[in-house]
Amino acid sequence: MRVIIEDAHIAFGPTVVLDDFSCTVEPDTVTALVGPSGSGKSTLLSVIAGYEKLKHGHVWFEELDGSRHTPDSSQIVWVPQGSNALGARTALDNVMLGPLSTGLSLEAASDRALTALTDVGLAHKAEQAVRELSGGELQRVNFARGIAAGQRLILADEPSSSLDEANTLNVAALLADLANRATIIVATHDPVLVAAAETVIYLRSHHDN
Ligand SMILES: Nc1ncnc2c1ncn2[C@@H]1O[C@H](COP(=O)(O)OP(=O)(O)OP(=O)(O)O)[C@@H](O)[C@H]1O
Ligand SMILES: [Mg+2]
Repeated sequence: MRVIIEDAHIAFGPTVVLDDFSCTVEPDTVTALVGPSGSGKSTLLSVIAGYEKLKHGHVWFEELDGSRHTPDSSQIVWVPQGSNALGARTALDNVMLGPLSTGLSLEAASDRALTALTDVGLAHKAEQAVRELSGGELQRVNFARGIAAGQRLILADEPSSSLDEANTLNVAALLADLANRATIIVATHDPVLVAAAETVIYLRSHHDN
């Protein structure tokens, strides 16, 4: 789906983070969100997710048929910096949480989760406890949870910040592959991920009133 941001304005006290900011993110592409620390990358992702409300302006999710609706957090997957995975449980259990949260049965969720782990190159680690995985593998588990749930919008906040270069290249390749089935917006400082994006959106540093 397409994400349209129109004249977005958001401030925290005197700090204006987004000032009549507009942009469009095309469906099934990888878009990098870049800008200095404090420029509002995480805030913009939260606004798109529907976690944070705008003071004025709009965010729209536009379907392929042109119909529009306001952000709905059940349609997105949020890939956090670091991990919110359950360390003692297996990669498969963690990925199953995605499809289970959409109401699928255990068996169907397990099938979907295994397919998603295969897609991210981790089928061989399905039964391994997540705390025994490398940082790059863990980040792939986070993405697999979203794919398995069938979400069409993936929001990733600095997914490579704890990764070495080889794993960052793996994540970049994974994002390019996932763009065949989902719209991906990634807030990042990492030149490797920026290079992997089809579109780059720049946020400027904010000013205080
Ligand atoms: N809940 C909040 N309350 C008050 N100020 C906030 C809140 N969330 C963000 N801010 C402020 O808004 C600005 C933008 O923060 P944000 O986290 O979006 O930046 P960022 O571009 O993601 O930075 P970084 O690259 O360091 O992650 C910062 O000045 C921050 O202090
Ligand atoms: Mg941030």
